[in-house]
Amino acid sequence: MKEHLKNDLENINHLLDITKKQGVEYLDFITNRPTSVHHIPVWEQQGLPESGYGTEEALQIFNKRFEPVMVGSSGPRYLGFVTGGTTPASIVGDWLTTIYDQNTQSTKGQGDISANIELETIQLILKLLGLPDSFLGGFVTGATMSNFTCLAVARQWQGKEQGRDVAKEGVSGPVKILTATPHSSSIKSLSLLGLGSSNIIKVKTAGDDREAICIQDLEDQIVKLNGDPFILISSGGTVNTVDFDDFSEIKKLKDKYRFWWHIDAAFGGFAACSTTHSHLVEGWEYADSITVDCHKWLNVPYESAVFLIKEQYKVLQVETFQNSNAPYLGDPLENFGYLNFLPENSRRLKALPAWFSLMAYGKKGYQYIIDNNISLANQFGQMLDGSQDFKLLAPVRLNTVCFTLRDDEKQDEVGRFLEVLNNTGKVFMTPTFYNGHKGIRAAFVNWMTNENDIQLIFKTMNDVIAELK
Ligand SMILES: Cc1ncc(COP(=O)(O)O)c(C=O)c1O
Repeated sequence: MKEHLKNDLENINHLLDITKKQGVEYLDFITNRPTSVHHIPVWEQQGLPESGYGTEEALQIFNKRFEPVMVGSSGPRYLGFVTGGTTPASIVGDWLTTIYDQNTQSTKGQGDISANIELETIQLILKLLGLPDSFLGGFVTGATMSNFTCLAVARQWQGKEQGRDVAKEGVSGPVKILTATPHSSSIKSLSLLGLGSSNIIKVKTAGDDREAICIQDLEDQIVKLNGDPFILISSGGTVNTVDFDDFSEIKKLKDKYRFWWHIDAAFGGFAACSTTHSHLVEGWEYADSITVDCHKWLNVPYESAVFLIKEQYKVLQVETFQNSNAPYLGDPLENFGYLNFLPENSRRLKALPAWFSLMAYGKKGYQYIIDNNISLANQFGQMLDGSQDFKLLAPVRLNTVCFTLRDDEKQDEVGRFLEVLNNTGKVFMTPTFYNGHKGIRAAFVNWMTNENDIQLIFKTMNDVIAELK
């Protein structure tokens, strides 16, 4: 064995110890870790070392070059995008995922059967979200891939409804897709699936100040399709203003018309476990497919999301994802293996961090996280609403606060304000554009965030305003 490999193997205990120590230091001080990088260093690119340095020295090189720019993105005041944190249990699960390094595929057989853990985790997630076990689920890297997976099966369904096997024959002719305010990742998925990112029929929203779909316009558009099967992409929490389509009304349309109903509930789906907001997802169990992101509100490390597709479509799912020229893999409908049900073939045991977190904190633990974040978002929204310098761009419907500078004359200063705010390193938010306004989004999805954080954030925002005056 080559020297460094041999030494590393002999010293694995020490290597994991120093790594653990470093990890604990990061986690212990996460609330003070800057949430942004102020000055991007100029890195001289290093070439591939001839014989390597061994792991301890590689760690030192990492610490010198890259560690200083690791931001506190899993900390309590990182409100950018929709970035969840990592619960302690999920970190343990993630470490063990790496250590055991299973290639999660099947439930039976002589090799790896860790798919049983994944299937069990899906059941836990269904229970957490109050969904029936008629969904077959699996883990993918994020909500983008989940939307892709669900829409790929929807594409197969749509083709079959018209007598075509799209998986075999390819897409031909336009596929009708109706949607009001889809997340960009669904549009990207349409492009990846050869359906065309601009081939959507835009349905009106429920009002000028809404992102949810207008049910009447949806029905009008459906009628215009003259019975053609179509795909509906609906929202279980839009990314800007967390608006929800009316799922109970969509269910009524589903009883009347022929369509595949997909819900992107990347983070909004967790409303299901709130004590106050579960009504927002009422009726979502009737959807054909649902996207739920775990690295958002489940607070497990990146990359983790689930697709939930009604089990009745598993033949379509296999037709879409089967490794059809690999007979040695067997018949996927008899011998279940994830590689015939989703895009990736080889894959890590992505479910384990989620399994640990769900087992460690249970339903009540997640109820607390969700309720706490919703309450903080509302308190923060009230602070902004009552201030002279900020105003809300939309009501706080769940966990995201979408706001701008109060003075419309200062629209051009929104970007500068956000840049200076983020440069403080005390908080991180992301820009947006909503209802003709440049805006800012603050998404509360971290299990650690508390009232002191929002006080500090609000104070920092006021300091920045004073500095810019
Ligand atoms: C509603 C919605 N869908 C999809 C995504 C994409 O998620 P990911 O980055 O995990 O692919 C996001 C990300 O914020 C989202 O909010």
